[in-house]
Amino acid sequence: MTAYTLGSLLYEGKAKRVFATDQPDLVAVEYKDDATAFNALKKAQLAGKGELNCRISALLFEHLASRGVPTHYLGVQGSQWMLVRPVRVIPIEVVIRNVAAGSLCKQMPIQPGTPLEPPLLDLYYKDDAYGDPLLTEARLDVLGLVTLDQRRELEELARRVNGELLTLFDGIGLQLVDFKIELGFTAGGELVVADEISPDTCRLWDRAVTDASDRILDKDRFRQDLGGVVEAYGEVLKRVQGACPEPRIYR
Ligand code: TMP
Ligand code: ASP
Repeated sequence: MTAYTLGSLLYEGKAKRVFATDQPDLVAVEYKDDATAFNALKKAQLAGKGELNCRISALLFEHLASRGVPTHYLGVQGSQWMLVRPVRVIPIEVVIRNVAAGSLCKQMPIQPGTPLEPPLLDLYYKDDAYGDPLLTEARLDVLGLVTLDQRRELEELARRVNGELLTLFDGIGLQLVDFKIELGFTAGGELVVADEISPDTCRLWDRAVTDASDRILDKDRFRQDLGGVVEAYGEVLKRVQGACPEPRIYR
């Protein structure tokens, strides 16, 4: 893999910074220690979170690549940097829910922990100023962000990701309750999984633990003030490391 030089800051999000490089087909992503919830109403610095999420995301992207799922991921460098292909990210958050939790249980009369079969796929408009609202099909048409074919392709890719991750996590004693992914188009027009996949963006419950709080190994520990956030992410990393190809090092 070729050496690169860091260029200008392209975008700063709540948990990551995205930089150009001297290579047009390479973008560098820095994972930050910042933790936010409830559209950044709640904020904290969690030492080690950036490194953990970078490593977990890299391992999951390696796993998806090994299963033939296209992603923007190219490799890692140092502890908090990921190298990715530049993509035009579609401003839609795709959430797949295998078990009822979180906002679903606040918006519908459904008990947390209820299995959802088939998994529920929800689309949200990614815009903090509007609070990332749930999209209906009609609203998606009004926004015109994707064609009908692209929407079908996006949903199919998200369901493939769910299938692969469900099997992976199941094998390491973790229940994938739900997750959010973002997708984008490469310069060549290929639809790929972008952003990150980590305990910030997934709900993961330890299958061996029955207590409803103790089993949580994801950002709900931060959202619900349960403590032990970094320790929980460390446990996820430990398990994922045993089940995924080692991340490629980008020099
Ligand atoms: P929700 O139950 O709050 O709608 O969250 C569903 C999933 O999406 C959960 O795994 C957390 C993830 N998520 C994000 O990654 N970013 C967000 O901004 C939100 C609200 C949820
Ligand atoms: N990602 C959102 C925020 O940072 C919400 C969440 O994850 O709960 O505010």
